[in-house]
Amino acid sequence: MRTVKFGIIGCGLMGREFASCAARWCHLIDVDFRPEIVSICDMNENLWGWYKDHFPSIKQTTKDYKELLANKDVEAVYCAIPHHLHQQFYCDIIQAGKHLMGEKPFGIDKPANDAILACVKEHPNVFVRCSSEFPFYPAAQKICDMIEKNAFGQIIEVNSGYLHSSDLDPNKPINWKRMIEINGEYGCMGDLGMHACHIPIRAGWFPKNVRALLTKIIKQRPDGKGGIVPCKTWDNATLACEAVDPNSGEKFPLTIKTFRIDPGEKNTWMIEIKGSKASVKFSTKQPKTLWLMEYTGGEQIWQQIDMGNDLAFKTITGGIFEIAFSDAVFQMWAAFLYELTHGKPIKKFAGCITPDEVALTHHLFTASLESHKNESVVKL
Ligand SMILES: NC(=O)c1ccc[n+]([C@@H]2O[C@H](COP(=O)([O-])OP(=O)(O)OC[C@H]3O[C@@H](n4cnc5c(N)ncnc54)[C@H](O)[C@@H]3O)[C@@H](O)[C@H]2O)c1
Repeated sequence: MRTVKFGIIGCGLMGREFASCAARWCHLIDVDFRPEIVSICDMNENLWGWYKDHFPSIKQTTKDYKELLANKDVEAVYCAIPHHLHQQFYCDIIQAGKHLMGEKPFGIDKPANDAILACVKEHPNVFVRCSSEFPFYPAAQKICDMIEKNAFGQIIEVNSGYLHSSDLDPNKPINWKRMIEINGEYGCMGDLGMHACHIPIRAGWFPKNVRALLTKIIKQRPDGKGGIVPCKTWDNATLACEAVDPNSGEKFPLTIKTFRIDPGEKNTWMIEIKGSKASVKFSTKQPKTLWLMEYTGGEQIWQQIDMGNDLAFKTITGGIFEIAFSDAVFQMWAAFLYELTHGKPIKKFAGCITPDEVALTHHLFTASLESHKNESVVKL
């Protein structure tokens, strides 16, 4: 068993999700690697207690990430911090020779992402990946297997999206995810777009052009201190793109939707592929249901398949049970460690996002800002 010693920078929402995976690593079977958390860093000391209570392996707690990077025991870092800090922190992590799982959007904007990419290229021995867990749902993995087998025939249309209603309440106080200087000008695209782009990009369906429709629905919010402040980030984005099917060479419409205000959608990741031989629909609203239609002539019949627990990395959970968000995060971490220790993903679509794939998303989101501003189609 190879143990990879981790430091966590950013002990908030996502830092705890990773720590929880590490705590129940025995849930996985047939793996020859495991993470061990040895160091944590967060400005907010109040977050340290939960980690210290549950992880006796943690020997260092600090507010200064450079102390964590100076720790020789730390081999890899999970960095889950606000977007305006990504460039500085990610570059410093890579330059310190630590492997990195970084959070999206991997730089607040394209110049920040370009700088991170330059560091990655200068340090080829450092393993760097970006987090994105939704393709690890069993139904999504089945769709990915179908992509690999060219089961769709000619691609007719692909719709991919990540839809929230977290910000529907106008009285919700502003937090950093709604502040342009911390979250970035991409707004909802930076927040949610990596999730919606992951499968299309790995499938090779990168947009050739984009017409973006961006909306700011709630333009001011309470500041949580009795005042009202402007809320300048984009709430919702619809990216209407054209992509090329690598098999047929034909163009097809690809829409990528990232909504922070979509009434009725609490937290929905979805993908829909329409092809001449097969079509599929999956949404995390119905986490075990895959809709599949195979067309060989005759009637067009949608089949509803219960996917159960058929995962890329096997677990102790019986095959008939359902998956949830935290299981998908767990699978993503198994994929990160598998690729780090084995040198390649266990299968094409069971790998975390690569730096080059991240760069494509920045290209798309930057073009989308331009498209919306000029009301034009932007070539990519
Ligand atoms: N993969 C996913 O599904 C997913 C979900 C939510 C957020 N995210 C991403 O994760 C990252 C963090 O988001 P979050 O929701 O965990 O945020 P969060 O606000 O819950 O946590 C961020 C933490 O960073 C800490 N921090 C801020 N400045 C720091 C500094 N200088 N040094 C050390 N710590 C510092 C904060 O104190 C906070 O605890 C973002 O990039 C976000 O886009 C990913």
